[in-house]
Amino acid sequence: MARRSATQVRHETLAEPPSLAEQADRHALYQQAVNAPGAHIDFIRKVYRGMRKREPRVLKEDFCGTALMAATWAQRSPHNRAIGVDLDAEALAWGQRHNLELRGPALARRVALVHGDVLEDRPHRADIVCALNFSYNLLLARHQLLAYLRGARRSLLPGGLFLLDCIGGTEAVIDFSEERGCQDFTYIWSQQDFNPLDHSARCSISFAFPDGSRIEPAFAYRWRLWTMPELRDCLAEAGFTGVRIFWEYSDEAGEARHVEIDREQNQEIWLAYVVAW
Ligand SMILES: C[S@@+](CC[C@H](N)C(=O)[O-])C[C@H]1O[C@@H](n2cnc3c(N)ncnc32)[C@H](O)[C@@H]1O
Repeated sequence: MARRSATQVRHETLAEPPSLAEQADRHALYQQAVNAPGAHIDFIRKVYRGMRKREPRVLKEDFCGTALMAATWAQRSPHNRAIGVDLDAEALAWGQRHNLELRGPALARRVALVHGDVLEDRPHRADIVCALNFSYNLLLARHQLLAYLRGARRSLLPGGLFLLDCIGGTEAVIDFSEERGCQDFTYIWSQQDFNPLDHSARCSISFAFPDGSRIEPAFAYRWRLWTMPELRDCLAEAGFTGVRIFWEYSDEAGEARHVEIDREQNQEIWLAYVVAW
């Protein structure tokens, strides 16, 4: 073993231990704070089986990031397959390692991760195509949203369903920040510079730790908050002939329940699933 010099030893003794932020993995924190793939899967299987009287088997996750939804889908059944598409090679590589390979080669073989733009035409076809956590809001121009929806419709197998989530309400169209305590960190969502003329805003996700350190921002992007009527108009224009809206209600224990509706009162913040075909 190499001998350490006196200077090296002194530096090691004086060196500050790494902060919690320095030790953290932003993708792992994001998944813990934001993703709930099991609930999305339970919802869409229930709707698909109700409408089509059979099990959906192939799921395509657009804007997949670390592809936790695709991985969870494949984990549900050895008959399930999934495709994930994202522009971010680093997020995909992280997902390949942590969400696929660590769950075993049999599962990893049933999930294909594609590095690319969701606007590009691809040969993949699926029973369920989804764009969740409001990711289509990253498409800033109407012609992009429309091109994306047309492509999503083309990638449905016969009987296939397209699943989106939508956020709205009086507080979704102003600058706001939200902090939520997670197991050993705080998740901070922020929407700033909301422009009522085009509904664009700067968004970020940050993480704060008990030792005072922060990852700020861990993720940052510009988005456009598409409204439900714009989304429905674009879905129809893209060729979708059916749409069902499922509004999220919370019971006293905070458990979410989704109920199909065709009208509701506006709220400060509301969430809804949109299912189209
Ligand atoms: C907010 S993250 C959502 C990730 C994941 N859907 C989730 O539920 O956590 C948005 C993702 O969309 C990806 N993205 C943005 N524009 C894209 C595009 N045009 N094509 C493919 N991926 C895109 C980003 O790289 C990022 O990983």
